[in-house]
Amino acid sequence: MNINSVRRNSYAVGGAAWGDEGKGKIVDEIAIECSTQNKKIIAYRVNGGPNAGHTIEKANGERIALHQLPSAILIPNSVIILGKGMVIHPADLIREINSVKDLQSSIKIDKMAALALDTHRAYEGVLKSWQTGGSKGATGRGIAPAYSDIILRQPMQLRDLLNQNWDKFEQHYDLYSQQIAGLGQDMAEIEVATAIPDLKIKVGTKKEFINRLKEDRKTLAPLIEDVYDFVKETWQDEQYAYIFEMAQAIGLDPRFGVYPDITGSDTTFASITASTEGTINYEEVEHRILTMKATYSSSVGVRKLPTDMTSTDPELANKIREDAWEYGATTKRPRDIVFLDLPAARFYSQHGGGNEFAITHMDVVYPNTPIKICTDYQVNGKIVAYRPDQEFLNTVTPIYKEIPTWDQKQINLAKNYNEIPKEAKDYVDMIAKELGSPVTIITNGPKREQIIKVTK
Ligand code: IMP
Repeated sequence: MNINSVRRNSYAVGGAAWGDEGKGKIVDEIAIECSTQNKKIIAYRVNGGPNAGHTIEKANGERIALHQLPSAILIPNSVIILGKGMVIHPADLIREINSVKDLQSSIKIDKMAALALDTHRAYEGVLKSWQTGGSKGATGRGIAPAYSDIILRQPMQLRDLLNQNWDKFEQHYDLYSQQIAGLGQDMAEIEVATAIPDLKIKVGTKKEFINRLKEDRKTLAPLIEDVYDFVKETWQDEQYAYIFEMAQAIGLDPRFGVYPDITGSDTTFASITASTEGTINYEEVEHRILTMKATYSSSVGVRKLPTDMTSTDPELANKIREDAWEYGATTKRPRDIVFLDLPAARFYSQHGGGNEFAITHMDVVYPNTPIKICTDYQVNGKIVAYRPDQEFLNTVTPIYKEIPTWDQKQINLAKNYNEIPKEAKDYVDMIAKELGSPVTIITNGPKREQIIKVTK
C-alpha cells in the first residue's frame, strides 16, 4: 500500500481530552456495524496497559470489566491483537481472558510488547512517597516504570516470557529490589494491586515472583507471536475491518500532557505506525476518530486547568459527576470536572492525528442552564493558544461564552440525527468548525443503543 493512500474499512478510536471520553461505546458500535456487514474484524489495541478500563455488557446481560483486552473480544470470530505499543501485565490479562469465558475470538500478543510487572507496581508505589504529584495520580499499575524500562534499554518483553529467559527476569527482580532497598523499603513485602478490585498481593521473594510468571507463561505462551506478517497480509485484504483501539488520551501523552499527570505511552494515532513497526502508516487509516465529551470534560490528577469547574461551580460539577458517574473505571477515584475547553481541544486536535470526531454524553444538559464553554485563553489582554505547561496555564484567564442548552428528554429519546434538538445540532456544528474535522458520531445516553450517526 502506498503511503497516505486510504485503506477502506479501517477505524481508529482515541481520546481527545484527558481520558474516559466514552471511547469504548464508539468502538463497540463500529465493531457491531462491521460484523453485521459480515466483515471479519481485527481489533488492535495500540498502547497502554491495565491502566485503561471499561465495562462491557455481554448478550446475557453480564457485565465484565476489561483493561487490556479490546471490547471486540465479544464479537464472534474476531481477531484481537495486543500490539507492541502496549505494556502488559500477564496475570491480569489471564484473569480478563477467563472472565470472558465463552471466548469466540482469537488473541494474538505481539512478542515485542513490553511487560508491566509487579516489580514495576512496587517501584511506582514507593516513588509515591518521594515524588510530589505524578505517581500520586497514577493508576498504580506500574505503567510509567514499564515504559521507562524501554527508554533505559532494558524492557522485559512478552518474548522473554515465551523464551523462558528466567535469568533475565532474575536480573530484573534484583535491579528493582536494589532500587527499592535504596529508597528504604523491602520489595518482597510491598503489596501491589491485582486484577481483583481491593485484592493486593506481596511481590514476594525472587522465587515466588518467577514462579508466578512461569504459571502465567503456561496460559499465555500459545498466544505470543510474531504478528507483523499477519498484520501486513490482512491490511492488504479489505474484507478485514481493522479497528485500532487507543487507550488514555492525547492530554495524557508524555509530550502533549501537563506534567506530572502524564501516562507512559504515545496516545496519538501516530503510535499505530510505531506499534506496527511501520507496517501500517496511521494516515492510511480511513476513520481516525477522536472522542470528546460534549458539554464538559473530566480529568484525574493534580493538574489544575484554567477551566476547572469543580472549584468554580461545585454545584454543577457535583451534579455532572453523579449523573454521568464520573469516577475512574480502574481506580474508582472521583474525576475533576472541567468546562468545555476549546483552546485545549484545538491543541489536541492539531496533534492527535485524527480526521473525525465523536461527541459523547450529549444528554448531560440541564434545564435553564446554558452551556458555558471556554473559547479562548488570555494573558495580559492578548489571546494565547493552549500550551501543556502548568506554570503557563496558571497565568491564563479563560474567556467564556454561554450557548443555549437543549432538551434532555428529546435528545435522550432520539433514534436518529433528525430527531435531536436544533440547539444540539448547532453545538455539534460549532465543535466541527472550531476543531476543523467533521463530527460523525454522537452518543445521547448511557444505554448501548444510545448512539447516533451524524447525517446532514
Ligand atoms: P498511569 O497511566 O497509571 O501512569 O497514570 C498517569 C496519569 O494518567 C494519571 O493522572 C492517571 O489518572 C491518568 N490515566 C491513566 N489511565 C487513564 C484512563 O484510562 N483514564 C483517565 N485517566 C487515566
